[in-house]
Amino acid sequence: MSEQQSISKQLRDAMQEHGAASQSAGINTLFASDSSRAARYGFELEGIYFDFSKTHISASLQELYLQLAQEAQFDRWRHALFTGEKINGSEDRSVLHTLLRDPDNQGIATSEQGVLEQAANTRKQFIQQLQTITEELDTRETAVTDIIHIGIGGSSLGTQLVFEALKNFDEKTRIHFIGNIDAHQLVAVLDQCKVASTLVIGVSKTFSTAETLQNIRSVGDWFAAHGVNNYLDNVYAVTANPDNAANFGISTANTVTFPNWVGGRYSVWSSVSLSAALVLGADKFAAFLAGAASVDRHFYQSEPGENLCFIAAMLDHYYRNFLAVGSRAIFAYDYRLRSLVDYLQQLETESNGKDRQRDGSEVDQLTSPVVWGGVGTDVQHSVFQMLHQGTALIPAEFLLVVNPHHDLIEHHNELLANGVAQTAALLAGQDLATVKRRHASESLSEIALKAKVFSGERPSTTILLPELTPHVLGALLAFYEHRTFCNGVFANINSYDQMGVELGKRLAKEVKPLLSQSANASRVESPESLDASTRSLIDRIKKA
Ligand code: F6P
Repeated sequence: MSEQQSISKQLRDAMQEHGAASQSAGINTLFASDSSRAARYGFELEGIYFDFSKTHISASLQELYLQLAQEAQFDRWRHALFTGEKINGSEDRSVLHTLLRDPDNQGIATSEQGVLEQAANTRKQFIQQLQTITEELDTRETAVTDIIHIGIGGSSLGTQLVFEALKNFDEKTRIHFIGNIDAHQLVAVLDQCKVASTLVIGVSKTFSTAETLQNIRSVGDWFAAHGVNNYLDNVYAVTANPDNAANFGISTANTVTFPNWVGGRYSVWSSVSLSAALVLGADKFAAFLAGAASVDRHFYQSEPGENLCFIAAMLDHYYRNFLAVGSRAIFAYDYRLRSLVDYLQQLETESNGKDRQRDGSEVDQLTSPVVWGGVGTDVQHSVFQMLHQGTALIPAEFLLVVNPHHDLIEHHNELLANGVAQTAALLAGQDLATVKRRHASESLSEIALKAKVFSGERPSTTILLPELTPHVLGALLAFYEHRTFCNGVFANINSYDQMGVELGKRLAKEVKPLLSQSANASRVESPESLDASTRSLIDRIKKA
């Protein structure tokens, strides 16, 4: 066990007891005993409505988490986040992505000298680069029809989400996102592009990520194969390590930088999103930043009881640790948000999927659940069977956009009706008597009737977005960022490094040369450090 307890035994016991009571009491009783429950646990922020009332939230639960906020020093860590303390201890870095959307930092003084002006300069440089590149593009012989955005993880997921969510239907310029080293993705994209009308943006915070560098090289080969040899003149680099970009051969003029205190999965606000900002335009991107800044203010200034990021994280932590929940599902009932789950998977699980406390000792609680989900109504024809009648308790989040950007109202009413109805069904379920009444006119067998019994009492949170605008999207993503922060504080972990991804990369370097050894080598001359299964897989791949 770790020497540093992040939850006292007294509080943990009380939470354990509360969880057991919640599990048996269910959620419907909470509505029965409080006629204003829906209003009490419905909150509005920047036009977005958060309905937590269909979860196990209660005054007694909030009371317990006020105690946890004390024990885990929530106020101290929140202040440290905004003042630029190096809360990313293992990499000795501040965590100041909030400065990207408000260089004035809400007037909060920072402990690290120079970051405020660095943020202001970063933002100014980005806007200037946007201007310069836009002008350059306007002078090109052939207009750019395709942007190839090469990046992976935080160097592409956010930008892809923002572009898909905010682009106009009639937007002619396409952005292709290439991250995977699997060349099937690269080939599929290049087949759609023409050299003369294609712009390449290589995005990598470190500018050392193997997949990204290889993909840039291969796009370069494609240019060369089409007679354009100085392809690097066509490539912009976005990075926090301009020296690496220069070593790769990209000119300073074509390099856009952002500070090291912006984590990869927190960098959508930076020049990482250059491709999307170029197509969407500086004004839309500024509105996106402003939406996030408004939630930063809410998060920094609100007490836990009204702090929506804290409330959401409280429920995450409670379900995970005291109702034995293993995963949390997010369902975006809007096709334009189809990349939201991929984005949140990295944001939440790469931040909090850890078993080490800040000091390196083992955690004393469960950390990030599996975050998964999909797009509604598609998900109703696959995973919703499990959600309604499975044996696992899976808190579900429903994101609905009230006002669509099309005029097919019949479609949209159907979509919204389904989204809302699913949350009602998860809560209500249906007992056998209800099933018999509802199916009285069909002569169903006893077995068929019993197969339609649903337990109900399944928690959901509904988030109503008034419209999918840049401001609303920025506010929503900042809400998830600060929710992730709170979950890290509860577990006393560093949410801002990602050591867990390194071992796999290291071993891949060991395995790769073994795959290209002469196929007839009878045995894999692999280091004994590789297990028998891996060695036999390598063998088999070579023989194939
Ligand atoms: O997955 C590890 C990681 O470092 C992510 O945190 C990051 O977003 C991604 O790889 C890409 O890193 P880079 O932007 O340095 O290429």
